[in-house]
Amino acid sequence: MKIITNGKIFFKNQFIEEDIFIEKDRILGIGHTQKHDLRMATEIIDAKGLLVLPGLIDVHVHLRDPGQTYKEDFTSGTRAALAGGITTVMDMPNNTKPTVTLDRLEEKEEWAAEKALCDVRFHFGCTNNNFNEIKQANPNSLKLYMFKTTQAQDLCITDEKIIEKHMLNFNKKIVVHAEDNDVEKVCSIAQKCKRKIHLAHTPTRKQIDITKRTGNTNEVAPHHLFLSTKDQEQLGKLSGVHPHLRTEEERKDLWNKLDDIDCIATDHAPHTLEEKRAGAAGFPGLETSLSLMLDAYNKRLMNINWIAGRMSENPAKIFNLPHIGRIESGYYANLAFIDLKKEWVVKGNELETKCKWSPFEGKLLKGKNVRTMYKGKLVYENGEFIDAY
Ligand code: DOR
Ligand code: ZN
Repeated sequence: MKIITNGKIFFKNQFIEEDIFIEKDRILGIGHTQKHDLRMATEIIDAKGLLVLPGLIDVHVHLRDPGQTYKEDFTSGTRAALAGGITTVMDMPNNTKPTVTLDRLEEKEEWAAEKALCDVRFHFGCTNNNFNEIKQANPNSLKLYMFKTTQAQDLCITDEKIIEKHMLNFNKKIVVHAEDNDVEKVCSIAQKCKRKIHLAHTPTRKQIDITKRTGNTNEVAPHHLFLSTKDQEQLGKLSGVHPHLRTEEERKDLWNKLDDIDCIATDHAPHTLEEKRAGAAGFPGLETSLSLMLDAYNKRLMNINWIAGRMSENPAKIFNLPHIGRIESGYYANLAFIDLKKEWVVKGNELETKCKWSPFEGKLLKGKNVRTMYKGKLVYENGEFIDAY
């Protein structure tokens, strides 16, 4: 049994001073350590001065493997996740050969089992006619693109009848990439089909309002909270992303809606600098997401319970992921140890992601994940990967 002691742990939406007892890959329970517990302990992990969060869950990540492993692969992408305190990522289907058949899904699962260092789940892509493939594969979630984006030309569906058919044929979560007027449109199709959907990367107050009014869930990407068209001058060609950055006014307005945001998801979309300069859309985000939020907390712009909930428990709830997202008996011992005072400067060439750049280059952030536990093992500590990593 391992014991984590002296930390402030996130439990039932607040931080409490309790110890965590761990057996193999699971949490046994929480409480105060007694003498006999100490005798049973094989390892005591001191979390003095740290917050202990459930390992974070990022429901929107592009790991690029297989197909474009020069910009990311299961190993580099999951290292980036673990460095950022994230222990579960949900991978998007827009690979060069999109994840739209059972074979492709199985191929990804095999590769990930071999190469990934944290928990990887897969969104399965919708096409105009892959209804049988979806039935066969029976994935946990679908991704439906109403927008032509990176590698997603074959995935883009605009025909309402086909969207409706996907919604009626599948009873688990469907994630939709809709932009502008399509958000309203897809929410009303979902209403007609009497089902709920999850809207990816909603960048504006208006879109959040639509998702809430129609009883659906949303996710917000850190770059829409922390970057605007004001930053385009400095970022130049690197500023391309779908959905595009909004004006400073719209960005500020998004902050008026924090309570209606269901979860934070990075849309980690690595491209090389050469590709960015040639117009590729997307930002890496796994290693900066939590720190940006913690920095905002330190500036009294965000509530720490809000951050923890939106990055761990809520994503697990939305996607119905059992035994992750909480510090509770029976749950996986996936944990992020946070030092709220730790300051660091974002430097692309020091990041784990293969693309080696960040739209937040040079930014000083206060608050960082300093240790990550995955399935009962400390795998990352102060910038270093432990053992086989
Ligand atoms: O900016 C983006 N990049 N938006 C997307 O929807 C896709 C992503 C990518 O895969 O590069
Ligand atoms: Zn995406």
